[in-house]
Amino acid sequence: MQRSFSFLRRSGFHSAMSYNTKVLRVDPSAIHFSATAHIDGSLPRISDPETEKHLLEAARLIRDDGETVAFPTETVYGLGGSSLNDASVRNIYKAKNRPSDNPLISHVSSIAQLNRRIYQQDREGDVLRNIPVVYHELVRQLWPGPLTILLPINEETALSVLTTAGQPTFAVRIPADPVARALIALSDTPIAAPSANVSTRPSPTAAEHVYHDLKGKIPLILDGGSCRVGVESTVIDGLVNPPMLLRPGGFTYEEIIELGGEQWSHCKVENRMTVGSGEKVRTPGMKYKHYSPRASTVAFAPINDDLPTSERMKIVTSEIMKYMTSHGTDKRQKVGLLTSIMFPNNLLESITDEVDVVVYSLGSSGKEVQSNLFAMLRRLDEEDEVDLIFVEGISDRNEGLAVMNRLRKAAGGNVVSF
Ligand code: TXA
Ligand code: MG
Repeated sequence: MQRSFSFLRRSGFHSAMSYNTKVLRVDPSAIHFSATAHIDGSLPRISDPETEKHLLEAARLIRDDGETVAFPTETVYGLGGSSLNDASVRNIYKAKNRPSDNPLISHVSSIAQLNRRIYQQDREGDVLRNIPVVYHELVRQLWPGPLTILLPINEETALSVLTTAGQPTFAVRIPADPVARALIALSDTPIAAPSANVSTRPSPTAAEHVYHDLKGKIPLILDGGSCRVGVESTVIDGLVNPPMLLRPGGFTYEEIIELGGEQWSHCKVENRMTVGSGEKVRTPGMKYKHYSPRASTVAFAPINDDLPTSERMKIVTSEIMKYMTSHGTDKRQKVGLLTSIMFPNNLLESITDEVDVVVYSLGSSGKEVQSNLFAMLRRLDEEDEVDLIFVEGISDRNEGLAVMNRLRKAAGGNVVSF
């Protein structure tokens, strides 16, 4: 007994659950970057001493201790550790319980830092030299922001192979959120950061979501308030012809096509939802369960633009009835409804009075729905503890592509077109 216990301790197994997770406030409005800091790497001025102290504490954990820290980005909260260091990356996978063949995005604070810390080049020269021309227009216009590009791995790149899960390419972005950028700049370390949720759960868009999932598993959460965008970054691959959109996200497909230049007008969308377990995958994240609430979730996807509203609501009503009947148990059910554009608030009450109903509006524009989706799925699941969730989706255009991608996965197979 004694022996196996000390083995567990030495191997780090025992310590995995034993953090006293701290939550420290940071004020994004106290962090000031120059207009060119995301290119030349100049450091921010921080006008609030407490914010600076907390950022430096987080930076030290990442740079010196191989630890992980959760921090806000404009998309979702990330769980960050050094991309250069095997032990840090292992800590990320372990805390999240994430399959290790799903590669991570490296976050840098500037293109100068990408050149110096990932490509290990100290020389001056064309700052865009390591970024293929195909990306230049997009990077000039959309960084810092929710755009992730794939770059080739070569003899110069310093990334841990655990960051890239053995892929011949790596994913990188410069986040727009001042807290994220300041943390990366102050640690002077490229930070590998998947969303800071336990694998398979909805991504976190507030510090409380991270605390719910990861308390005891990580040393520190920086709390910088809610995430503006609400879904992860758009992942694109310009190293293939035609270029591909691998994951829809904070920038829309339409924006990529419009801003990217000639080659991006032929951009293809990766649209396979699942991949067989033996298959070599281009976006490894595709084959895993994702974004799922505990409660059974049913997504409604509006695709029949031509059908009159009354006909569409008939389909919706009859499907809801079917799901409630097949889900029925002896105990009275609690059912959550998330509406967007067409569903009335009293939809469930108009169908039956045999259930308790909780209703929230996701908003009426694509941007609002995108920014609220994960938070409201979590609220129904974790606070209201409903048994069954119905969600009114939006059309696949603009923000709808990313919203419906997440919603379809959250719902597993339960998607109803109307
Ligand atoms: O907004 C975001 O991107 C957030 C925040 C924290 O910045 N991060 C995030 O990371 O969503 P993660 O690890 O959950 O998503 C990484 C995605 C996965 O779909 C992964 O398969 C893909 O990027 N990916 C990473 N490296 C890749 C590579 N070399 N080739 C293809 N896909 C890659
Ligand atoms: Mg994720």
